[in-house]
Amino acid sequence: MAQIIDGKLLSIQVLEQVAHEVDILKAECGIVPALAVILVGDDPASQVYVRNKAKRATEVGMLSLEYRFDADIAQVKLNRLIRELNSDPTVHGILVQLPLPDHLNEDEIISAIAPSKDVDGFHPQNVGALASGQPALVPCTPQGCMIMLRKVYADLSGKSAVVIGRSNIVGKPMAALLLQANCTVTIVHSHTANIEDFCRQADIVVAAVGRVGLVKSSWIKPGATVIDVGINEIHEEGRRKLRGDVDFQDVEPIAGAITPVPGGVGPMTIACLLLNTLKAAKKKNTSLKLDDMAFEAM
Ligand code: GUN
Repeated sequence: MAQIIDGKLLSIQVLEQVAHEVDILKAECGIVPALAVILVGDDPASQVYVRNKAKRATEVGMLSLEYRFDADIAQVKLNRLIRELNSDPTVHGILVQLPLPDHLNEDEIISAIAPSKDVDGFHPQNVGALASGQPALVPCTPQGCMIMLRKVYADLSGKSAVVIGRSNIVGKPMAALLLQANCTVTIVHSHTANIEDFCRQADIVVAAVGRVGLVKSSWIKPGATVIDVGINEIHEEGRRKLRGDVDFQDVEPIAGAITPVPGGVGPMTIACLLLNTLKAAKKKNTSLKLDDMAFEAM
C-alpha cells in the first residue's frame, strides 16, 4: 500500500501560510497583493481554472482582477492591456490563461509580461534564471510537485527521476527543479523508445502528458514515488470524471508513494500560484524577505 500524498491537505497548509503572510504585508506595509488573470475565449476547462484561481486568491486576502475577452480579440489589444498592468504599481501578478486561440502569438504575449510580475514563471527571463540556478518565479505545477516530493524525501540528492512529457509548463521546468535538487534526471517523450524501461529504473516518476491511465504498474519500480500531473476529463456512467495519466488502481499497490487525481497536484498548482503572487508583491514593495524556509519545511 502506497503513501497517498494528499495535495488537498498540503495545499490548505500552503494557503494558510500565504494568508498569514498577506495579513502581515497588509498590516505592516498597507499592501494588498493583487493578481490579474486574463482569459480569452470560452474554453470550459480554462473557465473552471480561472474561476478557482480567483476564488482562492480572494480567500487568502488578495485582490483578484479578472479580464475576459472574446476569442477574436486582437493581439495589439492584449499587448496594450499587459503594458498597462505592467506599469500599474498596485498589480503584482499577471497571468494569461493558456491555451490561447490560434491567431494569437502566445510567445509574444508571455514575453510582454514584466518578468517581476510573471507569476506563471513562463517569461524567457524566468525560464533562463531557473535553468541557470538563479532566483526566479518558478512555474506553479512543478513547484507544487516539488513540495509534495519533499513530503516523501528529506533529501532528494542522488535519486533517479524520470519526467514523462517535455512541455514548457510542466516537463521542462520540472526537470530543472529536480536537477537543482541533485536528482539524476531523464525526460522521456513521444519520440522516446521504450519509455517504460526508463521509468522502471526510476525512484521518482512524474507523469505529465495528458494521456488517461498511461502509466501502469509494470512501468514502476516497487516502492517508487509516482507524481501524476494529468488532469483528463472522461465520461463514465453518464458522468464527467477526472482521471490522471497514471492508472491509479493498478499502480498504487506497487508504489511507495503516489498522488491521487483529483486531490493531488491540481490544488497544489493554485496554492503555488498564490505563493508566487505573494513573492512578487513582497519583492516589489518591501525589504522583507519571504520566509522561504517556512514553505520548504512543509
Ligand atoms: N493552462 C494550463 N496550465 C496553465 C498554467 O499553469 N498557467 C496558465 N497561464 N495557463 C495554463
